[in-house]
Amino acid sequence: MKEGRVLVTGAAGYIGSHTVVELVNAGYEVVGVDNFSNSSPDMLKGIERITGKRIPFMELDCSDRTQFAKVFEQYPDITASIHFAACKAVGESVRQPLKYFENNLSSLLHLIELSVEDSRRRGIVFSSSCTVYGEPDPENLPVREDAPVKPATSPYGRTKQMNEEILRDCVNAYPSLNVIALRYFNPIGAHPSALIGEMPLGVPQNLVPYITQTAAGIRKELKIFGNDYPTPDGTCIRDYIYVCDLAKAHVAAVAKVLEDGNNDRFDIFNLGTGTGLSVLELVNHFIKATGVNLPYSFGPRREGDIVKVWADPAKANKELGWKADTPVDDVLRSAWAWEKKVRGIE
Ligand code: NAD
Ligand code: WQD
Repeated sequence: MKEGRVLVTGAAGYIGSHTVVELVNAGYEVVGVDNFSNSSPDMLKGIERITGKRIPFMELDCSDRTQFAKVFEQYPDITASIHFAACKAVGESVRQPLKYFENNLSSLLHLIELSVEDSRRRGIVFSSSCTVYGEPDPENLPVREDAPVKPATSPYGRTKQMNEEILRDCVNAYPSLNVIALRYFNPIGAHPSALIGEMPLGVPQNLVPYITQTAAGIRKELKIFGNDYPTPDGTCIRDYIYVCDLAKAHVAAVAKVLEDGNNDRFDIFNLGTGTGLSVLELVNHFIKATGVNLPYSFGPRREGDIVKVWADPAKANKELGWKADTPVDDVLRSAWAWEKKVRGIE
């Protein structure tokens, strides 16, 4: 067992739940918190079935400082936190920016305040996003961490940029604090057990949940948003990363923020595969990997979509000793297995 305890905010969420599993597998004591605003307690049962362990957990809202403080009172041995808790729907953030500024800023401010109160709580691993790069200039592809951060295209994206800046300033001001911001590209897939996975509320906005719901017959067909982009097949290109690979990077990041003598006290890592796939390529991988019929057609472009972005993950490969290496067909099969499990399809 490792020294100290890792607090995971948003532990019942998509990436948080997979990360709790990997932390427990790696021998960390954890405590999870979540307010279930975008998740269900069932996810905690899934984690417990996978790990065979009871997971310490508190239902609370990180944007309420008094509530949030309770986890630190109850678990004084917390030495590092992974901060997933946030609102994440890009479209909703345009319609309700205040909800995003309120939750995503206040939750992080409270975590920092509560962390710097006690010098043992020295590490924060923060969920950032490739959205901070906006549409990268072609000469910056694949995107490295030092590529320019462009003005955000949504209030959600702006919260991630602001969160990173807040963390950078606080590291300068509070010597006990060590921070790693992880910029995720497009996380997809589910745990191989099919006991945890992505659970979007309502109509999915993201590609893979839309694909699996269409394959399950819940949606009539997948609309591919635009086939007239300046890419080889006309559809947009992204870097799709397996959620279990992503989760493992958090274990490496926790070890790094807890390292003695770590001089890069605010550090940023891209988490991606390094390979871009077009929407059409991903759809064809899904059909090939699962053998399932997937009705799709081309529709107009979606407003705000960027044409192409994929990561240069070399820094994370080298400094975190981590690599996303699960083949995309396996990843898509895991997403389909999860969808079938949720829908009770044989
Ligand atoms: P998710 O919505 O599944 O998980 C977030 C969890 O946080 C949910 O369980 C939600 O109930 C909880 N939560 C939200 N606000 C809270 C609060 N105030 N107090 C307590 N709990 C709260 O999302 P996810 O996909 O797992 O994303 C996790 C993090 O990664 C987010 O910060 C998100 O912005 C970031 N991220 C996600 C993606 C992606 O495509 N999924 C990409 C880049 C970055
Ligand atoms: C992927 C591709 C769509 C749905 C979003 C956030 C980003 C980050 C990751 C949090 C695009 C196309 C999609 C559909 C389609 N999240 N598509 N039909 O937009 O790359 O990134 O999630 O930080 O900030 O913006 O992901 O899954 O929505 O789309 O053709 O029904 O699939 O146009 O090219 P995106 P996505």
